Amino acid sequence: MANKTHTHAQWSSRTAFVLAATGSAVGLGNIWKFPYMVGESGGAVFVLVYLCCIALIGLPILVSEWLVGRRGQSNPINSMLKVSRDEGRSPAWALVGLAGVLGSFLILSFYSVVGGWSLNYTWGSATGGVGESAGVALGDYFGALLEQPWTLFGWHTLFMIVTFAIVACGVKGGLERAAKWLMPLLIVALVVLIGYGTTTTGFGQAADFMFSPDWSKLNGSVVLAALGHAFFTLSLGMGIMMAYGSYLGQDVDLIKTARTVVILDTVIALAAGMAIFPVVFANGQDAGSGPGLIFATLPVAFADMPAGMLFGTLFFALLTIAALTSAISLLEPVTEFLEERTPLPRIGAALVAALAAWALGIAALLSFNLWSGFTPFGLGVFDLLDTLTAKFMLPLTGLGAIVFVGWFVKSEGVNQELALGGTGEMIWRIVSRFVAPIGVIVVFVSSL
Ligand code: PFF
Repeated sequence: MANKTHTHAQWSSRTAFVLAATGSAVGLGNIWKFPYMVGESGGAVFVLVYLCCIALIGLPILVSEWLVGRRGQSNPINSMLKVSRDEGRSPAWALVGLAGVLGSFLILSFYSVVGGWSLNYTWGSATGGVGESAGVALGDYFGALLEQPWTLFGWHTLFMIVTFAIVACGVKGGLERAAKWLMPLLIVALVVLIGYGTTTTGFGQAADFMFSPDWSKLNGSVVLAALGHAFFTLSLGMGIMMAYGSYLGQDVDLIKTARTVVILDTVIALAAGMAIFPVVFANGQDAGSGPGLIFATLPVAFADMPAGMLFGTLFFALLTIAALTSAISLLEPVTEFLEERTPLPRIGAALVAALAAWALGIAALLSFNLWSGFTPFGLGVFDLLDTLTAKFMLPLTGLGAIVFVGWFVKSEGVNQELALGGTGEMIWRIVSRFVAPIGVIVVFVSSL
């Protein structure tokens, strides 16, 4: 059997690690989910709360997950187990790793459905189908797509196959290289879209909507959504960052690196908002239209633009790539878990994990059509998976990670990993022991 410690990507350099972590972080969450959540949750208030959550809670938890991974040098469950043993703590802490593995699996199932939409739009933009329908009536194409179970099924399946193929082949050469070329292209596409937005009548309104808060919109559910999204967008609470951290050399500065990843991720999310809202407002659309926002509104802009077809195709192709680099990271923990707990080789483990997530994804895509009447807890399967993970599992698992590092790992261990001096150490202690955990707990409890 393959040497377990060399079964997934080894970072060839700090840059490679930053790319992989950013590739995991930057995905549908930034370009699809963030703008529609801003729209649903009252605009700038959501953005502000989200930025606070990222800085005060997301960043320290990212550092904690990497820290555990690097010290554990193993998959999330074993890393938690090893570090808790070293520190003389209960092995029950491994449950944090287990919850992460489960969460990443659940997310992958519906993430792949949305990845399938993105693939469908890439194809539809290239062949003209999306543009034509956008010219007729906004949202028609998307609405029609959701009503076709077999079409959704086909694209979801294709997306999962590609994800599986990359994970099975190994991540290093292809993925690191693809991220290096395609992420900058995605940024260029966003910048061009923002440029287009400035020429529309909706730009000022969009800037207001995103950056000048209407405090009357602030409530518990907005804060909880912002916190959940801070976790989602940074790939936290799912063991991913622990797994990625286990391939890190001791020379990498965790805090500095986390800052880079967080800034890149946040800038891309804000840029996506400023690319999309001008178009939404210029066309008199509803910013709070939910998950269909980017799929229903952006094609309108492309239909209007010179070379819009080319540009639309490029945009959705790059969105698909961003989704893929994240989906691959989502498949990794389950694959790794199966590989270690069963006799399956890596390819078999990846196949079983992908098949299981694919099957659950089918239930998610059916909730838009055939099973739309099946609503346990008042939500369809797709929304249920999204809510369960983003609002509950991720915050609680992330809380486990930060409480563990803040309270149960001795200062020498932390100092050794973070190489902090006097003031830095004090700030880290305050943030990891109080600010971040209390923030998560307050938000979580107040939402119940
Ligand atoms: N961070 C990714 C995004 O924003 O789209 C989604 C994601 C990837 C979540 C990997 C969790 C994860 F482990």
